[in-house]
Amino acid sequence: LASIEVNVAALQPGMSLTVKWRGKPVFIRNRTEKEVEEANAVALSDLKDPIARNANLGADAAASSIDRSAGEGKENWIVMIGSCTHLGCVPLGQAGEFGGWFCPCHGSHYDTAGRIRKGPAPENLAIPTFAFTSDTVITIG
Ligand code: FES
Repeated sequence: LASIEVNVAALQPGMSLTVKWRGKPVFIRNRTEKEVEEANAVALSDLKDPIARNANLGADAAASSIDRSAGEGKENWIVMIGSCTHLGCVPLGQAGEFGGWFCPCHGSHYDTAGRIRKGPAPENLAIPTFAFTSDTVITIG
């Protein structure tokens, strides 16, 4: 299936973009320093789902802020499938009790790393295969 290229040059910290990939919304966010700090301040033992759910890493990678992000030097960037892991509604950005995403269908709260923190969703928002293929272009898929 096709990959897509997304130019993120215009996304300043605190800005997000939603693109369509394989029929699903994909959230791309340039996280603020505060958002990254908040994600790093959470102990892995406090997470409902401690697995990164990152298709670019091993299946057992932990859900640290860095392993939920585009990685070293790009920890501000987060790319996730915008489909609630409960029953698939599209969560709202920068909403909910943890300052990340909120699914209004049945009240699932995700944090600034897209990790499920409260509500019925069982898993963190999934991270698709992606890579920065230049300083400003993300290729998804
Ligand atoms: Fe998101 Fe149920 S589909 S909480």
